[in-house]
Amino acid sequence: AGLPYQNPALPVADRVSDLMARMSLDEKLGQMTQAERTALNPQSDLATYRIGSVLSGGGSAPSPNTAQSWADMYDSFQRTALSTPLGIPMIYGADAVHGHNNVVGATIFPHNIGLGATRDPALVQQIGRATAEEVAGTGVNWDFAPCLCVARNDRWGRTYESFGEVPSIATSMTTIVTGLQGTTLGAAPASVLATAKHYLGDGGTTGGVNEGNTQLSEADLRAIHLPPFKAAVDKGVGSVMISYSSWNGVKDHGNRHLITDILKGELGFSGFVVSDWAGIDQIDGQSGFSAADIDASINAGIDMVMVPTNYKQFISMLRTEVNNGHISRARIDDANRRILTKKFQLGLFEHPLADRTFTGTVGSAAHRATARQAVRESQVVLKNAGNILPLSKSAKVFVAGKSADDIGNQSGGWTISWQGGSGNVTPGTTVLQGIRNTVAGAGSVTYNRDGNGINSSYTAAVAVIGETPYAEGAGDRPGGMGLDQTDLATLNRLRASGVPVVVVLVSGRPLDISAQLPDWRALVESWLPGTEGQGVADVLFGTVHPTGKLPVSWPQSASQEPVNDGDGKTPLFPLGFGLTW
Ligand code: GLC
Repeated sequence: AGLPYQNPALPVADRVSDLMARMSLDEKLGQMTQAERTALNPQSDLATYRIGSVLSGGGSAPSPNTAQSWADMYDSFQRTALSTPLGIPMIYGADAVHGHNNVVGATIFPHNIGLGATRDPALVQQIGRATAEEVAGTGVNWDFAPCLCVARNDRWGRTYESFGEVPSIATSMTTIVTGLQGTTLGAAPASVLATAKHYLGDGGTTGGVNEGNTQLSEADLRAIHLPPFKAAVDKGVGSVMISYSSWNGVKDHGNRHLITDILKGELGFSGFVVSDWAGIDQIDGQSGFSAADIDASINAGIDMVMVPTNYKQFISMLRTEVNNGHISRARIDDANRRILTKKFQLGLFEHPLADRTFTGTVGSAAHRATARQAVRESQVVLKNAGNILPLSKSAKVFVAGKSADDIGNQSGGWTISWQGGSGNVTPGTTVLQGIRNTVAGAGSVTYNRDGNGINSSYTAAVAVIGETPYAEGAGDRPGGMGLDQTDLATLNRLRASGVPVVVVLVSGRPLDISAQLPDWRALVESWLPGTEGQGVADVLFGTVHPTGKLPVSWPQSASQEPVNDGDGKTPLFPLGFGLTW
């Protein structure tokens, strides 16, 4: 093993050149191919087709779903990849978008909209570091995060994946890239490749339709959606994922001006560009990928394709498009140079297997403490009539609501499964448990999900309500954005008692609550706090002062959407609003 590309003492550029000189066309095409783990049957296809990357789609986990089992799975795939003549290691990607959320027992941090409410870039960098340790401990070395989308219409099902409605917040939170990758990619242990996504304009579609059409002038597209990507590129982000959405009717996945001229040219992005899941298929408007899709996407500047299942067909068609001259060898070489450079910089050639020294950090007390701090700082107090908050720790408290004792609801989508789900999906502290941990002395906590049993003897009723989990298009709200019937019924029971009601809204976005708000003594927007619900109680009972500020404008009604800072409309609560004491 004394070949130049295998020598870590040589400059990466020289190692890349030496390796590429030894690669056949098919080996280069394989490096540009990413397959989903469940599609690799037999697993030896990874070697046979020289596939360069494997991913776990949302919720795609080994059984048992433990950190140890993930690391074993990763090592098995990697050993297969290393069995090829050149022994090029594969890179394994997964969506760790609020902690290593596919893994049971992992720390689940607040989703991005809550992190935007903290206005605390240093904390967000810490979250990136903690996430990188948990991800690396399972072998995974590529995180499809952060989403740097600027959500302009709260109807969008991915609003919670956005740091906020103005580019300045996402730009400031690109510190998470440094947390994930380290100051220099691969320089320190537990460095994972970060992904700035989804380029470009995913949060600006008309009507907030997921994968829809962003109708903006180039000047406005650049002003609203580009700054966070420039910041991420300047911080050395190693990969960029392309958006399903279109810009003025043209699919981003086929837009050479956006990908090659602006991202790679103007911004000087030297990492590699990956498609979204089967994203190239949509370019020609037909289902499945075609030769036209492949030509358009690769020639636009996409370097790796998340196929993710029909990888044999993809490689075969890509080879045809190169042999018939529709895709140049130079383009193939550029893509490989970008991909291999990141693999060398990550240290994959020297350390291809899972770093088991970090496996024990998955769900660690230290990481959960960081998450609790993020939950504290993300709470936004929108109403506090009569200064009922902070509640006394010796109060007689009644707790109700479908999300009071539900880890799944408080974590939201992208948690254990792709869509997430209600219930006890992973270890953590619910809001109710946090309240029970806080109330002491003469105080007491009574819980009834529906509000049954409430009476005038209680100091206050805390209603923890809001949204049940969703991801991507499943979360689009084209119609009303009000509370569901379960919550309205609970609120009615509580209101009948005359006891002051403190509402904790667990949601991935602002909801239409104008009609109910007058009945509430207080309102705290909790966003999607994740596993460390103690942080919510810390604010409710004054363990800490609230500091959260709205990262989005709060609409007076659903029909007011889109409503954004500076658009001349008067929201119910403006961007930046948040009470404290
Ligand atoms: C999904 C999402 C993207 C994610 C990818 C892999 O469809 O659009 O954010 O990284 O597929 O799970």
